This record gives sequence, C-alpha cells and structure tokens, in this order.
Amino acid sequence: MEIIKDPSRLQEICWQWRAEGIRVGLVPTMGYLHKGHASLMDEARAKSDRLVVSLFVNPSQFGPGEDLEAYPRDLERDAALAEEHGADVLFCPEPASMYPGSSDVWVEVPEVAAGLCGVTRPVHFRGVATVVTKLLMLAMPALAVFGEKDRQQLAVIRALVRALFIPVEIAGHAIVREADGLAMSSRNVYLTPVERAQAPRIFEGLRLARDLVHAGERDAATIAGRVRAHYAEHIPLGRADYVEIVHPETMTPLARIGEEGAVLAVAVYLGKARLIDNILLNG
Ligand code: PAF
Repeated sequence: MEIIKDPSRLQEICWQWRAEGIRVGLVPTMGYLHKGHASLMDEARAKSDRLVVSLFVNPSQFGPGEDLEAYPRDLERDAALAEEHGADVLFCPEPASMYPGSSDVWVEVPEVAAGLCGVTRPVHFRGVATVVTKLLMLAMPALAVFGEKDRQQLAVIRALVRALFIPVEIAGHAIVREADGLAMSSRNVYLTPVERAQAPRIFEGLRLARDLVHAGERDAATIAGRVRAHYAEHIPLGRADYVEIVHPETMTPLARIGEEGAVLAVAVYLGKARLIDNILLNG
C-alpha cells in the first residue's frame, strides 16, 4: 500500500489507472477507522481493481465550536486496517494542499442540505460536498462507497454527482451496528460508560417506528412523537436534536408515509457526542 499526501500524485496515479481501463474504488473517510469503514472498504475492494482510501479530517465541514481539534485520530492504526482490507493507496493530505490559496470555491446542494443536520450544522454539507467533489476529481473512481448512517450526506453526494455529471457510481452501504444496536461511529469514543449504556436506545426508537408502520400507522407526526417520547423516557442523559420523517432522496419532510417509502432520521446529543441514525420505513 502506498501512502500519498500530495493530491497531484494521487491524480497522476488514478488518472493513469483510469486510462488503462483499471477500475478504481474510492472510500472517503475522516480516519479513526472502525468495522463500519472496514465493510465499506470490503465492498469497494470486491467491486474494483484498485482501492483508494482517503483519510482526511476535513476542516471545512466543521462549524465554529464543533469537534475539529478533538476529532479522534490514529494514523498508524488506520494505515494497518486499510492495508488489511486491501487498500492500494491511502491518501492522507494536509488541509493546505486540499484548500490551496483561497478556499472560496464551494459546492452547495441547498435543498437536500437544508433540513435535518443542516439546521444545526449550517456549513457542514457545503464542506462535505466540496471535499467529496475534490476527492472524486483526484481519484476519478468508477465507484465510491459511503455509509448509510450518514444518509443525508449520501443524498447530498448523489445529488451533486448527478448535477455536475461526475462519471462515478455512488454506492450506499448498510449501517454497521454494535451487538446492542448502536450504529458504529468514530464519535462513539466520546461516550462515558453511562452514556454508552443509554445509546442503544436510539436504534430501539427507530425499531419502534418501523413496528408502528408495520402495524398500519402512516402519520409522520404520530410516529415521530412516539419516538421522541421513547427517547425522553429511555435516554435521560440525552436530548433529541431532531426526529423527522423525510423523503428518501430529497430529505424534505413528509406528512405521511406513502408507497415510495420514507426515512426516519434522528440526531441525539448525548454527553460530548451528537449521534445520528436512521431507518427506512416502507409504506
Ligand atoms: O463521512 C465522512 O467521514 C466524511 O463526511 C467524508 C465523506 C469523508 C467527507 O469528509
């Protein structure tokens, strides 16, 4: 596995591969890799000839007062894991090389980014969309794989790829969970033992919603209300940021769950962590 810091070097290698008809798979990450990332790498590896994993704690997707400095980092362990999962290249650039000179070129996907996490994190998706566009232009992959835990992020990326005609397949990978249901996240390390014990209740709320839909409930406000009540009762140390039922592609709020399905998306503040999760609800 080659470790590359220089964006031009990555572009040189990957564009050469593309010219030779070699299929590149890309897994963008911010590092501190866990089993969720491992499953993204395994999927990309299985569907490509070369695997590029990027590891970049992207400053532009963190707002003021967020956890940019505190974000967990462990390059040595990440490099070992990426290699173990078949990475040919680990791309870990410095911020200055990804944002040379002025950083006033931005990719924005206003509609998809407006709600849910976009409300409390107003610059987040602009940062994600911009860095992912840069990574796609550098690696020119045939396939890029992202986790469905960040379902709004996935919707933002699908929308930008469509709008900018970027020739890449975007694959969403099913959420990987701990045995007790907590969605895997690098930010789970922020949880104290007592917060960690309450965290699986987040997924429990999502399952409750799915059961309500199976039992015939279709009203979004009723379902979201039940989930909020579940969190208030079972996650006393937490505070729900949002519990919303949205369209699976546009991420805009739905009043009812119809044939096309819906996503229940939640974010819960728990201690120093803000945990997100979601589930598909089919009408
Ligand atoms: O999901 C993440 O880890 C990040 O948002 C991403 C896609 C790597 C962009 O920085």
